[in-house]
Amino acid sequence: MDHSKDRMEGSVHLSEKGDSIVILDQRLLPNRLVYRELKTAEEIYDAIKTLAVRGAPAIGICAAYGMYVLSLQADGEDMDAFRAAMEQNGEYLISSRPTAVNLSWAVRRMLGVIGKNGEKNVPEIRELLLQESLAIHDEDIEMCFRISEYGLSLVKPGDGILTHCNAGPLATSKYGTAIGPMLLGKERGIDFKVFSDETRPLLQGARLTSFELQRAGVDVTLICDNMASLVMKNGWVQACFVGCDRIAANGDFANKIGTSGVAILAKHYGIPFYSLGPTSTIDMNCPTGADIRIEQRDPDEIRTMWYKEPMALPEVKCYNPAFDVTDHSLLTAIVTDRGIVYPPFDVNLKKLFE
Ligand code: MRU
Repeated sequence: MDHSKDRMEGSVHLSEKGDSIVILDQRLLPNRLVYRELKTAEEIYDAIKTLAVRGAPAIGICAAYGMYVLSLQADGEDMDAFRAAMEQNGEYLISSRPTAVNLSWAVRRMLGVIGKNGEKNVPEIRELLLQESLAIHDEDIEMCFRISEYGLSLVKPGDGILTHCNAGPLATSKYGTAIGPMLLGKERGIDFKVFSDETRPLLQGARLTSFELQRAGVDVTLICDNMASLVMKNGWVQACFVGCDRIAANGDFANKIGTSGVAILAKHYGIPFYSLGPTSTIDMNCPTGADIRIEQRDPDEIRTMWYKEPMALPEVKCYNPAFDVTDHSLLTAIVTDRGIVYPPFDVNLKKLFE
């Protein structure tokens, strides 16, 4: 299926000229819609690190296009120099953020194209890299659609769904993962009542999820993170849908900081808790959540960001992990593009790849 129109409507795509990446700068949403062009390795690294482009699948797509765009700038005459430059570019991009596996997955897939085609010349390899990056983007569009369909089968019209962070179209290619069922439902005339955690400290829920859902006409209520317990106690939540940045082989998964707290609350109130993600987010080489590296971010995101005045003394100590790991025992199921995976996760995740 031709996804060229969908690709151009997403938050990350290749420029029309084909020598740069265009991203919607997510740091400025919801107040300003600004598109930026990324061409150099430093620009791509910086956009990922500072969350101008964010969300595990979107980072992967951006890195894949990045590898193609950078291949146009690498030595075209000498194959060994080309390969070395591309490996260096790949390592550099991977180092921009450690937790979401989609980043290294996409870079390694692009490097694999170079590795498998040693007999070809650089222009031929560039063409293969272009096709691979477009395939990574198209596959994500299709995976998100299937995840949204599976997710939709888990809830009833009118249900209350709580989500944390942003796992929508901005974070992926189209539909998204955790909020895909709500958007697909809307298209089909099925309405839900969505509660979006604001998601301190970078407010992805407030700035991005409530923006995407409101714009799509979905009934969304924004709550502060510490209100989730009350909303659940009130009986307003029938399911929790969250995204994921890396799913370990035993079903433990990393997602935006605060996700594990939501999972613990859901267990307390007897609410089903689902993580939704593409197979590109499952890392079978990572045995458990303890093996996932958690990104630590700038303390000023807690002290000063989004405020007119600093909300803490500049010298106050801060702890700012970007993600936490939710134990698989808290998960009802993992919703993937290849189906809904139930416990035991260590056995059933393996089956997805057989
Ligand atoms: O730091 P972010 O905003 O990149 O974190 C994003 C998340 O935690 C998302 O839930 C996850 O990447 C899944 S996006 C489909």
